[in-house]
Amino acid sequence: INYQRATFLTSAPDIKALPADQGIEVAFAGRSNAGKSSALNTLTRQNSLARTSKTPGRTQLINTFSLDADRRLIDLPGYGFAKVPLAVKEKWQKSLAEYLQKRQSLKGLVVLMDIRHPLKDLDQDLISWAVASDLPVLVLLTKADKLASGARKKILLEVREASMAFMGDVTVHLFSSLNKFGLDEVEQVLDTWYQA
Ligand code: GTP
Ligand code: MG
Repeated sequence: INYQRATFLTSAPDIKALPADQGIEVAFAGRSNAGKSSALNTLTRQNSLARTSKTPGRTQLINTFSLDADRRLIDLPGYGFAKVPLAVKEKWQKSLAEYLQKRQSLKGLVVLMDIRHPLKDLDQDLISWAVASDLPVLVLLTKADKLASGARKKILLEVREASMAFMGDVTVHLFSSLNKFGLDEVEQVLDTWYQA
């Protein structure tokens, strides 16, 4: 798949506003500030396709990008510590849950976690849910550039070991948007999901 061809499609406040539920979608999910939007930009080689920010909670809508007529990438709102009013937070956490539960074209979930804070409760809940729904999961340990190579290898092995407990199709790789670390691996996994 040529990921550079990605173009912005829509920003949806809820699943009713999404493009027709057909073809294949791969969604990027994870805690606020984990690096989801940055990873999408790295994958598509476009600096400002998805909006990134130092402020957690930047992505509050379900942003959709088209790769071709029947393949899409999805940037989901983050969960966790977003500094937004509770009412707003509840609204978009609800649309996130709804998207994950109802979207038929969702064929694979990328779960991004800051390598310095892996496998928080909500990450584990999300992975468990995906496995229960027979959805393949690619866990990306993001901002790998923040750790020395020995330290990041150690965490990679620990998270791979812990991921066996989910008993599902869960792959774990290191990733960095800063130095493109892990980009080839991400493309390989996504290519197989989009091929189906
Ligand atoms: P929300 O939309 O708020 O849920 O956040 P997000 O998961 O989309 O995170 P985003 O991509 O906006 O990145 C958050 C912050 O982390 C920004 O300041 C990025 O520049 C930084 N960041 C993202 N990826 C990397 C990385 O690989 N390395 C480093 N050093 N910083 C990164
Ligand atoms: Mg974002």
